[in-house]
Amino acid sequence: MKIERFTRLGFILAASGSAVGLGNIWKFPYIAGEYGGGAFVIMYLLTVLVIGFSIMIAEMFIGYEGRSDGVTCFENLDHAKPSIWRFGGFMGLSGLFVMIFYSVVIGWIFNYIVIALTSLPANVTEAERVFNTMLNTDIVTQLFYHTIAFIIITYVLLKGIKGGIEKLNYVLMPLLMLIIGGMFLYATTLDSFGAAVDFMFKADFSKINSEAFVVAVGHAFFTLSLGMGAILTYSASLPKGSNLIKSSLYVVAIDTAIALAAGLMLFTFLFQYGAEPAKGPGLVFISLPAIFYEMGIIGNFFAVIFFVALAFAGLTSAVSLTEPMVQYFISRWNFSRLKAALSMGLFFYLVGIVALLSNIDTYESSLTFFGNNFFDLVDFVTAAIMLPLGGLIMSIFVGFVVEKQRVEKVLKEPLGKFFELWYFSIRYVAPTALSIVALNLFGII
Ligand code: PHE
Repeated sequence: MKIERFTRLGFILAASGSAVGLGNIWKFPYIAGEYGGGAFVIMYLLTVLVIGFSIMIAEMFIGYEGRSDGVTCFENLDHAKPSIWRFGGFMGLSGLFVMIFYSVVIGWIFNYIVIALTSLPANVTEAERVFNTMLNTDIVTQLFYHTIAFIIITYVLLKGIKGGIEKLNYVLMPLLMLIIGGMFLYATTLDSFGAAVDFMFKADFSKINSEAFVVAVGHAFFTLSLGMGAILTYSASLPKGSNLIKSSLYVVAIDTAIALAAGLMLFTFLFQYGAEPAKGPGLVFISLPAIFYEMGIIGNFFAVIFFVALAFAGLTSAVSLTEPMVQYFISRWNFSRLKAALSMGLFFYLVGIVALLSNIDTYESSLTFFGNNFFDLVDFVTAAIMLPLGGLIMSIFVGFVVEKQRVEKVLKEPLGKFFELWYFSIRYVAPTALSIVALNLFGII
């Protein structure tokens, strides 16, 4: 099976399009707020640098050298045949599972573009009512926008790597950077910008506990799109002779810059208008619309472009979450792209409807398992369990299973004197940190 190739810039845009997602603009600011700001942000940045960056290189390596879908990549790089490591390819499934709720959230964002265009809620109470009504009672609206999300994502996927994914990212990523960059610059002119910088970077380490550590590591993975085969699958389409280190650096830098810019901008607005930083998941959908209303005409404009940017971020990540399974069915099951894209799309669309219904008051109790409704359960199982597990498998695979010469052949030159440091990190540091996360999760430590 011949795999289509990205151009160099196309790859950087697609991989950063995958990384920059709802995680950066919606999730990062609210968890930073919940865990008290500074110390959490610093821990997150350190994790991104020490663990995230190393695993990004490893994941790119597996795709680039394996040159196929996730399962086949693991097989190709393992000299033992049959390879039990092919089960590492299960990671693609995690991406598809994330899509179950990710597509629903993209639907909410579409709805909020319309709300921003028509009538912003006038205060927080009103904003809360609007959001909760949509979430807990309004099946029709959510279903309508979830359907639109499904159609766009599936359409892009069936157009393939070059005609679909690369094109989408060529258009949406520059626009997204422009919007977030522009709003960030505006925020720097407001009085509260200094307070936002203090909040995000002044570290009070007494606020740090093991839960904050687990959340920081989990989020570093999620935001860099690691452990789900997304980066792996895109890397199988890297042009020959690519420098994996440069590519990873770009992706990590763009992802981090956008998270920090989005966080600083949101907190500046919050402080400027006297809202609470620790607002939880409703930060973007509740506090922010009310603030935009208060800002007057410029707020109306910001509201529209902000939700448009959020939709762009979501869509470019969504295609990368689904593509690994699409690729798998194309190369292992001989599906046509059309059939593969359509069946994966229908999967997340239909199961997504169950997730959507599990937030609706009348159905919630019958769709609650282990104390979480289906929507939250999928979020938890993927982000907290499947994704770090994927990272653990990849680091052990690259660190201990793939022959060192093969790794050196690709990475020694671009990493230079940092090669051994990276190799050590992949063999010991990353697996240790990920095991701590796993043990903590199950309440063992
Ligand atoms: N990185 C994306 C975000 O921040 C989510 C994602 C995770 C995308 C894993 C692909 C793979 O929202």
